[in-house]
Amino acid sequence: MARKSIIYICDECGVRHKKWAGQCSCGAWNTLSKEEGFESAPKGLSDGKGDRISFVGLKGKEEPAHRRVTKISEFDRVCGGGLVSGSATLVGGDPGIGKSTLLIQVVAALSKDFKCVYISGEEAIAQLRLRAARLGLDNAPVGLATTTSVRDIITTFDKEYLPDVAVIDSIQCMFVDNLDSAPGTVTQIRTSAQELIRIAKRRQFALILVGHVTKDGNIAGPRILEHMVDTVLYFEGEPSHQFRVLRSVKNRFGPTDEIGVFEMTETGLNEVSNPSALFLASYHDKVAGISVFAGIEGSRPLLIEIQSLIAPSQQPAPRRAVVGWDTNRLAMIMAVLGSRCGIPLSSNEVYLNVVGGLRIREPAADLAVAAALISSFLEKPVAKKTIVFGEVGLSGEIRAVSHIATRLKEAEKLGFTSAIIPIAGYENDGKHANQLNTSLTLKRISQLADLVATFEPLNSGVTND
Ligand code: TYD
Ligand code: MG
Repeated sequence: MARKSIIYICDECGVRHKKWAGQCSCGAWNTLSKEEGFESAPKGLSDGKGDRISFVGLKGKEEPAHRRVTKISEFDRVCGGGLVSGSATLVGGDPGIGKSTLLIQVVAALSKDFKCVYISGEEAIAQLRLRAARLGLDNAPVGLATTTSVRDIITTFDKEYLPDVAVIDSIQCMFVDNLDSAPGTVTQIRTSAQELIRIAKRRQFALILVGHVTKDGNIAGPRILEHMVDTVLYFEGEPSHQFRVLRSVKNRFGPTDEIGVFEMTETGLNEVSNPSALFLASYHDKVAGISVFAGIEGSRPLLIEIQSLIAPSQQPAPRRAVVGWDTNRLAMIMAVLGSRCGIPLSSNEVYLNVVGGLRIREPAADLAVAAALISSFLEKPVAKKTIVFGEVGLSGEIRAVSHIATRLKEAEKLGFTSAIIPIAGYENDGKHANQLNTSLTLKRISQLADLVATFEPLNSGVTND
């Protein structure tokens, strides 16, 4: 029998340590939390006392997953077509980003057809009612409760009240009373989630757990929480902007990297069914330093404005500020522009901003970022009504990207007339991009220098003595 004693568990990777240390073996600093538990997992399972398991074939007569559709189409799509009964979904996001607002809207929408409950461990009933009234949802037949006791929740769901959909806001404040550790510790979060997921699977209801996010962008608690649930959704956005993006990063019942776009208004979250138009609302093609990127988020195309500003700097280490893109990737593009295209940016301050509070992860944005940088450096606007996409390699070559036709079609829809895109590349159906059926004028380039050439003649930005 393993002995119970004080141990230290890493919040990041869940590894157990006998002694406290500043750094865990996974490399993370200051992540060890003190717990009472077993130093190692109980041993000796090879004593032959277990039951035999039986194996079945891959083919079977399984029913397709039963989905609860909210008719909030941005939400349904991110979930892969609605919430699956008997599944657990984790919704993570920064405090104040709108998780509670989104989920009360989701349960209110579902409550017309399904039995929905919303359990909050963070807010009082009065607060929840106030929010519902503000959202105009106070007449929706949602069961509201405030508790932090996992035992009480399980007892209720087990015997008396079987919901179709249950929201737990948040998993970090849930408490299992037969553990010594305080709420919010790794053991409490893990055990609470485990128990709640177990009852959701057994009683076949859709469980939604709200998870807070730490400063470095992970859901607080061990990574293990993300492994335990079926779906992980992140609700993100800049608090100063009204746009919010719900992104699926894991989904056992649907595609990942799918996004849903919402707008936070006085009366709650509104769906944005044509986000490109919204993100380009104040786009002006006569200004230098601006380019439009035709991106793909999940299954849908999205046109996004990228702005850059280059200013001379007196500092030995000039400032670089990036919002919505990867700083390392910016450094790479700047280096390639300097060494392959003769555009020296290293002694300048460089600011890069993705408009609308969106965060771009696609390497296909490289070329659009480069276009914004070159445009700002030369003080010449990018060609009128032009979209840009393509990945940039270290030798300055422009690499192919996927979904070319979809990107071009979205640009066409929004009134763009030309596109600067890679020379290489096939559409998903194997058709060469040369054979694309588009009304856009295509400028197909193979080198970053070709992009610089589209700004000819290079008269401004070059000083004449
Ligand atoms: P909330 O859902 O409480 O965030 P979370 O649960 O992620 O912490 O939303 C908090 C913010 O949203 C708050 O700053 C106010 C704003 N908000 C609106 O702008 N409009 C609304 O209708 C509601 C309910 C909230
Ligand atoms: Mg909340």
